Amino acid sequence: MFSDIIIVKNFDYKKFVNNFDKNIIVMRNIVGSPARGNNFFRRDAEIRKIIDRIENGHNLQLIAPRRIGKTSILFHLLDQKVEGYAYVYLDTERIDNEEDFYKKIIKELCKVEEISISKRLFQRFREEARFLNRLKSIKILGNEIAFNEENLDLNYYEEIKNFLSGIELEENMQLVLLIDEFPQTVVNILEADHGETVNAIKFLQSNRELRQDPEVNRNVRFIYTGSIGLTQTVSNIQASAFINDINVVEIAPFNFEEGVEFLDRLSEPKGLKIPKEAALYLLKKIAWIIPFHIQLAMQEIISLSSNTRAIDQDLIDEAFNNIVEYRNRSHFEHYYSHLKKEFKGISFEFADKALKQIAKQGKLDRTVLYDMGTGFGIKENYRSIIDTLCYEGYINNNGNHQFYQFNSPIVRMWWQKHICE
Ligand SMILES: Nc1ncnc2c1ncn2[C@@H]1O[C@H](COP(=O)(O)OP(=O)(O)OP(=O)(O)O)[C@@H](O)[C@H]1O
Ligand SMILES: [Mg+2]
Repeated sequence: MFSDIIIVKNFDYKKFVNNFDKNIIVMRNIVGSPARGNNFFRRDAEIRKIIDRIENGHNLQLIAPRRIGKTSILFHLLDQKVEGYAYVYLDTERIDNEEDFYKKIIKELCKVEEISISKRLFQRFREEARFLNRLKSIKILGNEIAFNEENLDLNYYEEIKNFLSGIELEENMQLVLLIDEFPQTVVNILEADHGETVNAIKFLQSNRELRQDPEVNRNVRFIYTGSIGLTQTVSNIQASAFINDINVVEIAPFNFEEGVEFLDRLSEPKGLKIPKEAALYLLKKIAWIIPFHIQLAMQEIISLSSNTRAIDQDLIDEAFNNIVEYRNRSHFEHYYSHLKKEFKGISFEFADKALKQIAKQGKLDRTVLYDMGTGFGIKENYRSIIDTLCYEGYINNNGNHQFYQFNSPIVRMWWQKHICE
């Protein structure tokens, strides 16, 4: 699903590179952290899709395998205030309960310049004893509010609902809450409850109620994403019904042209000129062209190239192999550790063996996988494990449905070198 196999037909490299905007902004190769400001390479198609859906009144989840650039897109929306929305970014990775989740949103909202409290809400804060009692925790300063952490005696869901339905934004702006690592919060709640699903489901339910509250909905849109999939996380606890109102936007890898341009942008400030043949050769090797893999390759190319060594196929091959050196393990170890969290017992053993075989052989016939599943005694659900591996961006059977292969040759190399026995 995510693995567009790149076929380069009659690609006119020179014409393409000459068409670049010459007022090039210097882009730095920050490997691993979300790209911000000038370091963000435009994602016009994705941003357009997101804004169109927001304008149509949808709440969204951005889905893509790890490291494709979801967080970078959220930061871009936030930093550029794209299309005049007021954005609030929240990383909820460490949150493991509903109260803290809503509390964090309220705290972040208090920082947004464009938000003011509507007269109606202001009156309520002032007049209702219910709210006056809480002034210790939420203080009204003029027409602003401040948050005092000491008082924990609040129903934060009610607070946020009142808050979001009572805020007014400058010039009828709308507010977009960018909630990163939301699925991890669901997992954290489950772990805190030792696998008991009641609170996790209640959390998903209250989020849905909040999104669908007509007063909230007037002002506010939600965009969720995370490094683990929401759909899978929620379906594991049979709670899909609580997210089926959320519209899905897939974030794809770069296309070939974007890959060439990104490579050029990264090499320019270093005074490097990657020759046409070498650039095309590299991108064909990367195949699954995500900005992160271009960054990793670029880092290795820079350390190998010198006045006496040209950037040719030989250097590209060496740089490519160096990407999966042990020193880069922090960029790859999560692929394997995630499997251990995603699948338990026999399911893990099957997924593990299947991926090792695919890595070793390059391609694996689906009938071999079927036999492997039968061997593990999971004839019934081996398909859903394979589907999950496809959905999460490990493998695909695009092109020829009979065979499964790794999406990314780089990840396959990592598997061969560090995971396969
Ligand atoms: N549009 C972009 N321009 C430049 N670099 C990018 C872009 N998108 C992603 N990257 C780079 O790719 C890497 C991963 O980016 P990011 O953290 O945004 O991905 P992610 O999908 O949120 O990852 P995860 O699933 O691990 O949360 C980072 O090194 C980042 O700098
Ligand atoms: Mg991210």
